[in-house]
Amino acid sequence: MTRIAIVEGDGIGHEVIPVARRVLELLHPEYEYFDVDVGYGRWERTGCPCTDPDIAELKTADAILFGAITTPPMKDYQSVVLRIRKALDLYANLRPVKNDRFDIMIVRENTEGLYSGIEELTPDRATTLRIVSRKGSVRIARKAIDLARKRKGLLTVGHKANVIKSDVFFRDICLAEAKAAGIPCNDKFIDALSLDLLQHPEKYSVVVTTNMFGDILSDVAAYLVGGLGLVPSANIGDRYALFEPVHGSAPDIAGRNMANPIAAVRSVSMLLDYLGDSRGAVAVEESVRQVLGKGICTRDMGGTTGTRELGNALVQSLRRPD
Ligand code: NAI
Ligand code: MG
Repeated sequence: MTRIAIVEGDGIGHEVIPVARRVLELLHPEYEYFDVDVGYGRWERTGCPCTDPDIAELKTADAILFGAITTPPMKDYQSVVLRIRKALDLYANLRPVKNDRFDIMIVRENTEGLYSGIEELTPDRATTLRIVSRKGSVRIARKAIDLARKRKGLLTVGHKANVIKSDVFFRDICLAEAKAAGIPCNDKFIDALSLDLLQHPEKYSVVVTTNMFGDILSDVAAYLVGGLGLVPSANIGDRYALFEPVHGSAPDIAGRNMANPIAAVRSVSMLLDYLGDSRGAVAVEESVRQVLGKGICTRDMGGTTGTRELGNALVQSLRRPD
């Protein structure tokens, strides 16, 4: 029995995940679904955003469908998203940005770099340790190389090796792994890459980079396809996998039936691909294409359709693969 954990999380997670779940349940009524309540809302109610038993429960799932979790900027509050990524060792964050003209997969290292969580605050100095390990770099490089091979595409390494020594280390490992695998590969400074990706997206196929650069680059690249409401992601490790929209909990629009559910629905497509149902994955993408083709869209894309109503339209255009 395939078991799917559902984490709505906070804010618009409560709106976009029900739409995504409905699509998934229509295609796979035979899966077992269970909710796991973690996040800021849980912290407000109980004083704890996520417990060890929650992590253990998440580990029992074959895949996790995740909304977004609010991280308040408080000194002693540990990010639940980071905790889950580390506990489940979800080291590869895959963020596809594509349309009819280009097809880019941003591969972001997801467990170390500047999000190592090793930090020190004193009255006079704040320090965050940027960890780039050989193990972490090799495994993310290999994940990106696998994807480049499947897509017969170029691998681009994004880094800041001109300034940061840990990025000389990262770049050299990626280039060596690509060379050993016989995959065409180039590299670019992350700042120049950010602009070039926007100006010439068709030049890119797979882009691999460290944690924070990948986080920023994927939000920037979302501009190419109409914004954060459209970009899904997969967080994959060797044993567990979690699928979530790239966007956050969007407190500014939460509870108003305004959020775009497409990024969450596309995350279902990535989840199905991961579970081996590639035809289901294509059916989900196709229903998104149909709905957008009819000009049905939420406010962020210039439309007037509500989250729930867009969900209805997606469900109506969903064709079950035979
Ligand atoms: P955000 O992605 O939540 O929102 C940025 C802007 O994009 C806002 O104006 C929002 O209204 C808009 N937006 C985002 N998703 C949208 C959608 N589906 N439809 C329409 N508009 C959408 O990022 P922000 O504001 O920086 O963070 C808000 C909270 O979310 C913070 O607490 C942050 O820590 C958390 N966050 C959580 C993430 C996660 O759970 N993986 C990822 C990013 C942020
Ligand atoms: Mg982000």
